[in-house]
Parts: sequence; structure tokens; C-alpha cells
Amino acid sequence: MNDSIPQLATHDEPALDAAFHTLAEEVRTEAAALTTPEAQESFRLQWLGRKGGRLKLISEAWLKSAPGDARKLLGVRFNQLKGQIEKALESATQQQLANRLHKNAMASMEGILRELIAENGIDITLPGAVRAPGIPHPLIETMHAVARVFEHLGYSVNLGPQVETDFFNFEALNFPPNHPARDTQDTLLIAHQGAKPSRDRLLMRTHTSPVQIRTMVEHAPPIRIVIPGKVHRNDAADATHSPIFHQVEGLAVDSNITFSDLKGTLDHAMKALFGHDVKTRFFPSFFPFTEPSADVQISCIFCGGRGCRKCKHSGWIELLGCGMVDPAVFAAVTAERTRLGLDPTPYDPARISGFAFGMGVERIAMILHGVSDIGHFYSGDMRFLQQFA
Ligand code: PHE
Repeated sequence: MNDSIPQLATHDEPALDAAFHTLAEEVRTEAAALTTPEAQESFRLQWLGRKGGRLKLISEAWLKSAPGDARKLLGVRFNQLKGQIEKALESATQQQLANRLHKNAMASMEGILRELIAENGIDITLPGAVRAPGIPHPLIETMHAVARVFEHLGYSVNLGPQVETDFFNFEALNFPPNHPARDTQDTLLIAHQGAKPSRDRLLMRTHTSPVQIRTMVEHAPPIRIVIPGKVHRNDAADATHSPIFHQVEGLAVDSNITFSDLKGTLDHAMKALFGHDVKTRFFPSFFPFTEPSADVQISCIFCGGRGCRKCKHSGWIELLGCGMVDPAVFAAVTAERTRLGLDPTPYDPARISGFAFGMGVERIAMILHGVSDIGHFYSGDMRFLQQFA
């Protein structure tokens, strides 16, 4: 700061204004550096000190030499300058207070964070993990899509247990104990069942067909149900097989259900799933619980039926099994209803008939999405799954 007393050459207003402007500038520059209470106090003493304060010295010097009519002009300006100095002091006080509060807040925040990190071993200042929103698994999605087609036809959905008895999984479906037909569905048995009668022994269900029986034992016709679910077989895994897979089963029982109803229903379902250009054909087949039985093939959706690698140059892709409910199944249902004390009459094959079908969900999903290895569905590999998001 400048300690010498500036001199006034003239006392006209512009000269006074210029002189006070210089002083105000000095105040402003010095005030900007008042970051500590000590600096603030020495600034106050230097400008406003009663003895030797700059304001006092300058005003004494200037007022003494001033002509009478300039005194009033000077007085007004000294008051103004004093106001500016006081204001600078006040705002320095406030700035220092704000700085102190901020510093304290930051220090205690840092303390809290340090404590949290020490307590939890987690640095909560790190950016959070981004969680992608989930989507239905492609198999679940396909299973729902199939069920939806039949729901639109008036079918309801039924589910059954994955751990099933020999009776529901095999016997009632016309696979007698020790019959070679059981070889087509290699079974995973639950351990320690030997003491039970064979019909009560537990196993992992090999297909969704046992739910046909459960539904008929519980309800009289008319019945129209779809049964989506998980099934298990003692099969080695390869590109098209998995010991755990999914099926959607269907069952319709009513008076006058014919093979034409079965054909029309499945033809519609295949067109709804794969596009209306798709053709269906029914090939003779065998299942113990349907008679007659058929395998349903659709015209190859990749080549339109001309023949390609995907359809092994046949133009057709085999997709599901179906048939008319075998009277032996109705007989087993009737026997079970009798055993349970339920009305045995509704499943008289002379009055009702029905059809059933069952399809593999994995196979349909593989065809729909062009997936070449069934293992992708179970790998949990995000690069695979993200493609369905
Ligand atoms: N349950 C049979 C299977 O898993 C499929 C099927 C269901 C066939 C219904 C005919 C009728 O192979």
C-alpha cells in the first residue's frame, strides 16, 4: 500500500472525483487479499485507525488546504470512501466465514467417507454398477408365445410337478411297467424308492403328458388346456439334446373331437408361430397314449420347401408329436377317478374323444432364432442373451 499522502492540485469536481477514484481502487485491490482475520485487522487499522489511519491523515491534509466551498464536496466523498472501506471489511468477514464453513463441511464429509470405507470395505465414492434391465429368457419367451397361440383359441394353462410318480408319467399313459416303450424316454429316477409300489415311485417327469392325466382326473370334459413346462431325460448333451428341456403339451377332450380338429388346430398354430406361408403335413408315428399317432412336419422356413442344409434337403422340418387320445388312457383316468371316489362316467370313450400334442420348446426357439447349439440357451453367456433384448 501507498503510505504517502497524495496531494491535491485543484479542487474542481472532476479533479476530486479522479483523486477519490484512485483511492477507491487502492481499497478494492487490498480488500481482495483479506483472507485471514489478521490481514483484515491490519487493513482496518491502516485505513480507519483513529491515530495515523490513512483516511484520517488524508482528510486532514486535504481539508486543511481546501478552499471553503470545496470542503462540502470533499466531506461527501470522504464519507463515501469510508462506506466503501467498511463494506469491504464486512464482505471479507462473510467470505472468511463461508470459507471456514465449506472447509469444515468438506473435512467432515471426508471423515464420514473414510469411516464408511473402513467399516464396510466398500468405497462408496466409486461409480455404481450399471444394471441392465432384465428380459425374459428366449426359451421362456418362446414357451409363452406357443401357449399364447392356444390361449387365443380358448385353451387355459395348466401346470404340474417336475417330480412325478411312475403312475402319471408312464402307467396311466399306457406305458406298462417293464414295457419296451419306456426305452424311448430314458428316465432319471429319484433315489430310495424301491420300497414303494411301482406306481408310487418318484422320478423326474420325462414329458409334460402326465399333466394330461392329472387334469382329466380332476376335471370332467370339455377340456382344452396347454401345459408348458420343464422335463428331464437321462440323455447325453449334444448340439440338439439336453437332459433338461422344455415342452408345451396340449389336450382337447369333448364330444365329437376328430382327427380333422387336430389337423386344423395344429395347422393354425404352426402358421401363427412360423408365418402363414408355412405348410404342415402329418406323418404316421407311434406314442403309447395316442392312437392314431402322428409326427407333424412344417415346410422348411429357411428354403420354403425347396430343400436346403437346414432341412437336410427334404424341404420339411419335424416339429411335434400328436394323436387322438388312446381309449386305454381314458380307461386309466376312469380307474383313477373311481379309486378316488369321483364320478367315473365322464370319460366313457363311447361318448367322448380327444386329441393331444406335445412339442419341444428348445427346438422351436432354435428354428425361430437360427440357434445352432442348444447349449447356448443354458450357458448364461451375456453375449448370447443380449441378442434377445
Ligand atoms: N409326450 C410326447 C413326447 O415327449 C409328445 C406327445 C405329446 C405326443 C402328446 C403325442 C401327444 O415325446
